Amino acid sequence: MFAIAIDGPAGAGKSSAAKAAAKKLGFIYVDTGALYRTIGLYMIRNHIPMEEPEKVAAALAGVQIELGFREDGQHVFLGGEDVSEYIRTPEISMAASRVSAIPQVRAFLFNLQRSLAEKNNVLMDGRDIGTVVLPNAQVKIFLTASAEERARRRCLELEQKGEPVTYEEVLADIQKRDYQDSHREIAPLVPAEDAVIVDTSNCDLEGAVEQILQIVYKKL
Ligand code: DC
Repeated sequence: MFAIAIDGPAGAGKSSAAKAAAKKLGFIYVDTGALYRTIGLYMIRNHIPMEEPEKVAAALAGVQIELGFREDGQHVFLGGEDVSEYIRTPEISMAASRVSAIPQVRAFLFNLQRSLAEKNNVLMDGRDIGTVVLPNAQVKIFLTASAEERARRRCLELEQKGEPVTYEEVLADIQKRDYQDSHREIAPLVPAEDAVIVDTSNCDLEGAVEQILQIVYKKL
């Protein structure tokens, strides 16, 4: 099997670029952030206090997550319910960031991610794919962009969905999440030593996809 690991901070254009590149390559695109988001959704729905890691860890016993791959991409199921639509709010982004710092949550999702890569050619995106989940991936890319550019993009995305936000709010949110994600003790957001850094601050989606494909073609 061939594995491509794409890591990087929120809003660098990772998911759109990764999804498009996977389609061109005929690989399964696995968005691992959706798994952390789904755990965040479960904790919110069940009123589990996320600032109490032992309560979150204990609640994992009730979490049943599955991924499905369809023509339109990945769907995530929580206890059999397709929750793919419900996990894309700022509230769930923050919840995902909080639960992702809990070691038991990461361990809980590890096998699911690993087994997908054992059975399929995958392009997996996340924060620790090249460093922890798939350290033997044939291609590792760290996709990034400046916080300001990422906030600008996220604002446009949320505006299109009709969510009332200001640029300052979104930027502050991104900076807070960057800090949480890169300073946590377990699996912090850092490029793998052998990752190729791709900065998308000054390129559009097509440009980012092209850069990913060029890196992959050299290794195929
Ligand atoms: O990529 P995203 O914004 O959907 O990810 C949501 C949160 O999950 C993000 O704050 C970091 C966390 N995450 C992680 O810790 N490890 C991953 N492999 C993917 C996401």
